[in-house]
Amino acid sequence: MAVIRVEHPLIEDVLTTLRDAATPREDFRRLTRKLSSLLVFEASRNLPLRQVDVETPLERTTGGRLNAEIVLVPVLRAGMGMLDSLLELFPGASVGYVGLERDEETAVARRYYLKLPDLADRHVFLLDPMLATGGSALAAIQALKEQGARSIRLLCIVAAPEGVALLEKHCPDVSIFAAAIDRQLDERKYILPGLGDFGDRLFGT
Ligand code: PRP
Ligand code: URA
Repeated sequence: MAVIRVEHPLIEDVLTTLRDAATPREDFRRLTRKLSSLLVFEASRNLPLRQVDVETPLERTTGGRLNAEIVLVPVLRAGMGMLDSLLELFPGASVGYVGLERDEETAVARRYYLKLPDLADRHVFLLDPMLATGGSALAAIQALKEQGARSIRLLCIVAAPEGVALLEKHCPDVSIFAAAIDRQLDERKYILPGLGDFGDRLFGT
C-alpha cells in the first residue's frame, strides 16, 4: 500500500493554522478547503489522460484531457468539509456518501448511512480528514469495495500510525494521501498532537 505524506510549505502552513485551537470556525472551514485542494493535486497526479488535437490561435498541436470518471465520497460528517474544493476541480464527478460515527466510549465506528453511485471502472476519492484508529476508513473502504470499487484513494489531513497500520494490513491496494502522520492516539483514541475533533470544529457542535 502506498502511504504518501504530501509535503509542501503551503500545506504545512495551512495545517499549522488548523491545529491551532484558537483558529475561528470560518477560517477552519476555508483552510480545510484549501488544504484539500493541495492534497488532491498530489493524489490525482497519475490519473489517466487521453491525447487530443487542439488548434491554438497559431497552429495545431496535441494536448491531454482527463480520461477518468471520478467519484467523490465524503465520510459524514467531517469529510463534507473537503467536498466542495474537490468538486471545483472535478465538476462532473459523481458523489457518494458514507455516514459513520465513532461511539464516544469505545471509539468503534457505526455506519448509519450509505448512498453510492456506480463505482465500477471509476476512480474513487474517499474524503475523511482524520485517520485515527482506522476503523471508520476501513468500514468505508469495505463498503466501497462491496459496491465494486477497484481504484480507491483516501485523502486525509491527519493520520495516526495506528490507522495507517490497520489499512496497510487490510487494504494494501488503497493509497493514502495525508498532510501529516502524527505521533500516536491518546486513551480516548484522539490523534496526538492532532487538531481535536474535526467534525466538532467544522460544524460547531
Ligand atoms: C471522526 C473522523 C473520522 C473518524 C476517525 O468522525 O471524521 O471519520 O472520526 O476515527 P477512526 O479512524 O478512529 O475511526 P466521527 O466519528 O467523530 O464523526 P463526525 O465526523 O460525525 O464528527
Ligand atoms: N476523530 C477526530 O475528529 N479527531 C481525532 O483526533 C480522532 C478522531
